[in-house]
Amino acid sequence: MCGIVGYIGSNNAVPILIEGLRRLEYRGYDSAGIAFYEDGNMVLKKTVGKLSNLESILREREYESHLGIGHTRWATHGRPTEVNSHPHCDCYGKLMVVHNGIIENYSLLKKVLISEGHIFRSQTDTEVIAHLIERYLNNGNLSEAVRRALCEVEGTYAIAVISSSNPDTIVAARKGSPLIIGRGDKEYIVASDVPAILNITKDAIFVNDNELVVIREDGTQITDLKSGGSREEKIYQIPWDPELAEKGGYAHFMLKEILEQPQAVRNTFSGRINLNKDKIHWEDLDFTVEELRKISRIYIVSCGTSWHASLVGKSMIEAFAKVPVEVDLASEFRYRMPLIDDNTLTIGITQSGETADTLGAIRKAKEEGSKILIICNVVGSTATREADGVIYTHAGPEIGVASTKAFTSQLVALYLFAGYLGRAKELISYSAFSRIMTELASIPKKIESILEKEEEIKRLADLFWEKRDYFFLGRGIVYPIALEGALKLKEISYLHAEGYAGGEMKHGPIALVDKDMVVVALVPHNSVYEKMLGNIEEVKARDANVIAIADEECEEIIEKVDHVFCVPKTSDFLSPILFAIPLQLFAYHIARNRGCDIDQPRNLAKSVTVE
Ligand code: G6P
Repeated sequence: MCGIVGYIGSNNAVPILIEGLRRLEYRGYDSAGIAFYEDGNMVLKKTVGKLSNLESILREREYESHLGIGHTRWATHGRPTEVNSHPHCDCYGKLMVVHNGIIENYSLLKKVLISEGHIFRSQTDTEVIAHLIERYLNNGNLSEAVRRALCEVEGTYAIAVISSSNPDTIVAARKGSPLIIGRGDKEYIVASDVPAILNITKDAIFVNDNELVVIREDGTQITDLKSGGSREEKIYQIPWDPELAEKGGYAHFMLKEILEQPQAVRNTFSGRINLNKDKIHWEDLDFTVEELRKISRIYIVSCGTSWHASLVGKSMIEAFAKVPVEVDLASEFRYRMPLIDDNTLTIGITQSGETADTLGAIRKAKEEGSKILIICNVVGSTATREADGVIYTHAGPEIGVASTKAFTSQLVALYLFAGYLGRAKELISYSAFSRIMTELASIPKKIESILEKEEEIKRLADLFWEKRDYFFLGRGIVYPIALEGALKLKEISYLHAEGYAGGEMKHGPIALVDKDMVVVALVPHNSVYEKMLGNIEEVKARDANVIAIADEECEEIIEKVDHVFCVPKTSDFLSPILFAIPLQLFAYHIARNRGCDIDQPRNLAKSVTVE
């Protein structure tokens, strides 16, 4: 949902800003722009479309600057045109602003500012910020002008501001949208997300809501937006190497991230649980066994792919720990009346830790008195800082908009947590828990063996990519994987794809089935195997093309369907991880055949920081 970046230091800001934007482009790619201070002049370059268009414009000559800001846009207010691209400026082009978020009272403010003589150029909400700051900048104190301006705006923002009145300063502020500062050696980079700072530094300061930061080459000062009081700056060490955020020779980030899954899931469980004699201890869990024992109800809140992981988590927790679990879409949870008491735990699952709906949901649960556990991939992100406990997935940076390795890592984290909670409640014996861990340890190799058969999936994609309608069917523990398979395909191929519980087909969707429909049926050998075979018969009788994903190549399935892809056998609760992988590859190869923009699908953004 828009990415912002700013740089101040002794190196040339222009290539650093472009590299930062490249690493934030997953947040939006409707337009890109930068503003920087060069030889006493403010230079503004912006254009519609991807960052590569901006790079072409910048090739006209060498630019040299030590201070600048940049933006990559996911349009909300105003069409994706050049004039609506950020940075936005004051009446004289001397003050530049980049913004991620939405200013809700912009129409009113705009009217007042126009009546005062300010000249607006764009249809964006952001431009009011530039003119408001201009209004208050008459004594030359940029940070005070930004503070006064922000006291008048309602809504959400992460902003970075530069002005020719203060050519040695970036002022940044945050309310509701993510903002971090990377601290290098006499240089600072401010950005919406971690990958953008990694080329400069791994030392990060996370800005909180309602804070304003003054950044100069020799230091930063963080103050409360309203009171002006300063706070101590905690430095987080980001555990990611810059290369992890690079494509590294792969055609797409999505493919790279699919192939990284054996290591990503290994990183999620490795070194976490200490099985010592008859004791089991979770090294980095912030809840004590006593606290876990008291939990009598769990809500899981999340969005998109993380919501699908949550659905699997519900089955795991209810089976291992016998605690009732409700799974809510975070956007719905925020506006209903959950039944929370002292023994309620709310688990927020979020790859980014910045999704506005998920943050809203956990804040609501917290207000009502729930303890909060966050399963998250980004160290230090907003959700993790507001939680009582965090399980990091350690999957490494995920850049492709369609989530893959973060999803399977979330499943591993949930599996571990469900088992550990069951053990804490003394519902699982030491030896049963050891078996859970042993089976988990075999998963990375099993994923590898699926990835080795990528060609098989590619051949299926080559057969079907011209079809327009797809159903993904699953029952029980792999039903959420059917939802996820459909989501992956529609996100990156723009095809009609729906996930259904096998048993629900006959209550409506089956009306759509004919010879043009592709049905992907998930058929693990579990307690609902026979039922699923029945559902396959139903769609086959209506001429659908059926691909079965199974964990045993038995005659029974081969006879009934057109194609079978086999994944290795594992326990029922780990099977969702293995069944998800061929569906990710299937979506990827279909999108590739269709010539779609896989890493940056239209209308989507990886991190949705607006409601
Ligand atoms: C966006 C992304 C999805 C993601 C969802 C939740 O919609 O496009 O891929 O699953 O946000 O993101 P989170 O970071 O909270 O897991």
